[in-house]
Amino acid sequence: MRMVDIIAKKRDGEPLTKEEIDFVVEGYTKDDIPDYQVSSLMMAIFFNDMNDAERADLTMAMVASGDRIDLSEIDGVKVDKHSTGGVGDTTTLVLAPLVAALGVPVAKMSGRGLGHTGGTIDKLEAVEGFHVEITEREFIDIVNRDKVAVIGQSGNLTPADKKLYALRDVTATVNSIPLIASSIMSKKIAAGADAIVLDVKVGDGAFMKTEEDAAELAKAMVTIGNDVGRRTMAIISSMEEPLGRAIGNALEVQEAIETLKGEGPEDLTELSLELGSQMAVLGGAAETLEEAREKLQGVIDDGSALEKFKVFLRNQGGDASIVDDVSRLPQAEFKFEVESKTSGYVEEIGSEAMGIASSMLGAGRQTKDDEIDLAVGLMLNKKVGDRVEAGESLVTIHSNTEDVEAVKTKVLENYKIGGDEKDIPLIRKMITE
Ligand code: URA
Ligand code: CA
Repeated sequence: MRMVDIIAKKRDGEPLTKEEIDFVVEGYTKDDIPDYQVSSLMMAIFFNDMNDAERADLTMAMVASGDRIDLSEIDGVKVDKHSTGGVGDTTTLVLAPLVAALGVPVAKMSGRGLGHTGGTIDKLEAVEGFHVEITEREFIDIVNRDKVAVIGQSGNLTPADKKLYALRDVTATVNSIPLIASSIMSKKIAAGADAIVLDVKVGDGAFMKTEEDAAELAKAMVTIGNDVGRRTMAIISSMEEPLGRAIGNALEVQEAIETLKGEGPEDLTELSLELGSQMAVLGGAAETLEEAREKLQGVIDDGSALEKFKVFLRNQGGDASIVDDVSRLPQAEFKFEVESKTSGYVEEIGSEAMGIASSMLGAGRQTKDDEIDLAVGLMLNKKVGDRVEAGESLVTIHSNTEDVEAVKTKVLENYKIGGDEKDIPLIRKMITE
C-alpha cells in the first residue's frame, strides 16, 4: 500500500477502506509516514468528508493505536460523559454521585484543566486529602462497591489522536466533523466506556458556533458510537454564558454540593438532570428519560445523592465534612465586587472571557506545570436575562491578591448589558439515536 495512492483516492472523493485507514493510523503512530503526507490527507478529508463506515474505522484505528483501559471487572454498563468544553462546567461533579446513587457505575478517568476550562480533578482536589492516584485495582473495587470513583489519566491512550490533533492544529484541519467526532469518540472508547453521553456545546465560547454545526457534530458522534457497539446519546447545550454561577475550583465544589441538595443554579441543575437521565437510561437504571429524571429528582430529594458524594470523597481520601460545612473549603483572602456601569438586562456573558478572567486570578493554568490556586475564582451574581441597575454587582471576585483591576476590566468588557430581556434556551436539542 502506498500513502500517495490513499491521498489521491480521498482527494478524488472516494471512500477509504478499513485496511487503508489502519495503514495510515498505524504508520503515522510509528513515524513511518511523514507529517506532510498525513497533513495532505487531513486536508482532503476536510474537503471531501468521510462516510459513516470510514468514521467508525478511523475511530477504532485510533483506539487500537495505544493502551485501552479494561473495565470488564466492573459490574454493569459503564457509561461515560463527555463535554466538548465548557466554562464553569460543574456538571461532572454533580453527575458522578447523582447517577451513582441510582446504581449506575461511574468509572471516570479525568484530566486536569488547561487554558480557560477547569479540569474535574483540579476541582475535586479543592477537597482536602482527595486524590486520584489510586491503583487500577482500587479503582475497580471502589466502583463495584460504591458505584463511583475518579482516576487520573494513565497509560498511553490513543497516541494516534495526540499526533493527529497536533498536526491538525497547525494545518487548519481541526474544524472537520469526521475528524473531531472520531477524535473524541476514540478517547472515550479507549478509556473503557460501554456507553457514552455527550454534551456538545454551542455558541461563542464553543467549537461549534451554530446550532446546525453542533447538531451535525453530535449526530456524527452518536452514529459512530452506535456503529461500534457503544450506545451513545447527545445533548446540545448553550455556551452563551458560563454554566451556573461559580467559576473556580473550590467555588464549583460548593456549587456542586448545593446542586446535589436541590438548591443549585437553575441551568446547572437542568443540564445535570438531562445528562443524568441519558446516563441512567444507557446504564439500565430506567426505561425512559422521563422515568430516569423522576428517579434522579428522587435521590436529590431524599438526600442519597448528597450522601453518595460524601462516600465518593471519603473513598479517595477526601474530607467529607466539607459537604455539611462548606466554609472548610479553601477560601480566598479577598472579595471584590464588579459593579455594573449601566442599567438594563444582561444580554450576553462571554464564556471564554470569564474562564480567562478566572485563570488570571490563578484558578487555571497557562502551562501544564503551573500551580493553581484552588480558592480563587468568580461568582456570577447576574446571569443572562437578569435585570441589573447601575452600581449593582455583576460578579464577585474571590482573590488572593489585591490587584484585580485587569480582571475587573475583563469581566466588564464581556458582560453585555442592553435593553432586551433575553432568554437563551439552555438545551437546544437531544439526539438519542
Ligand atoms: N476535541 C478533541 O478531542 N478532538 C478534536 O478533534 C477537537 C476537539
Ligand atoms: Ca459553574
